[in-house]
Amino acid sequence: MTGPGAPMTVLAVGDVVGADSAEWLAGRLPALREELGAHFVVVNGENCVVTGPNPMDGFGMTVEVVDRLLDAGVDVITGGNHSWDGPEVEGVLAHPKVVRPWNLEEARGRGVLTLQNGDRVLTVVNLLSPTAALPGMAAPQPRPLWTSWTELAETEELPGAVLIDLHGESPWEKASVATALDGQISALVGTHTHDPTLRGHLLPAGTAYIAELGMTGHLGFTGGGFDPMHFAARLRGEDHMRLPAYELADGPLTLGAVRIEIASDGTATAIERIA
Ligand SMILES: [Fe+2]
Ligand SMILES: [Fe+2]
Repeated sequence: MTGPGAPMTVLAVGDVVGADSAEWLAGRLPALREELGAHFVVVNGENCVVTGPNPMDGFGMTVEVVDRLLDAGVDVITGGNHSWDGPEVEGVLAHPKVVRPWNLEEARGRGVLTLQNGDRVLTVVNLLSPTAALPGMAAPQPRPLWTSWTELAETEELPGAVLIDLHGESPWEKASVATALDGQISALVGTHTHDPTLRGHLLPAGTAYIAELGMTGHLGFTGGGFDPMHFAARLRGEDHMRLPAYELADGPLTLGAVRIEIASDGTATAIERIA
């Protein structure tokens, strides 16, 4: 574990669902950043725009919404299985502040980004579990997580504190990766399943961990930010591709986020939910 240079506060935000949720987050961020004293803000934006009619690959990003979030104070936008959705994939992946999963064959974009704020250095890594590579994903299959980490650590510079956004289906898998990397990275935050897990944890050797940040958007019926009718149709064995595109949820807006404190030696000292 390498240190970030000075103690730092990181705000990590889970999957933003829909453009109006992105706008809501952008409106809150300047005050939130100030209130928390955040040195870095990491936001998973894989669902921030409904980008097309195809229900399985129409839930990605646009450059305009990415820039809106960055202008509001976000430092890096991470992704997941939806990083390849929509007509603006080229522009989004080419964006210098957008990170897509590292562990698959993709020449475009980047899977690691190092940020600097004064003396403080944070490296953000995005990994996609094979469990979250859903049928219809418009990208190659991801490589297994452990061999990917080994390869990543050997081939990439990872300066400062390291935070991994692990995009996956299973809390136990995320806990396993966090445990295996305890003491080697400062934080592992889970994304993808949208419904937040309650507690953040400080592992024995100093890594902060939470299984699921939770989505940022309208709660709707199941807390996912959109109507999961496609998932239900697939479960019933129906042709979900004949259904209309994802429909965004309504109801109250919610923020899926944690604040993480990291000491100058890279050890995490606190992880707590931000509502
Ligand atoms: Fe998502
Ligand atoms: Fe996802």
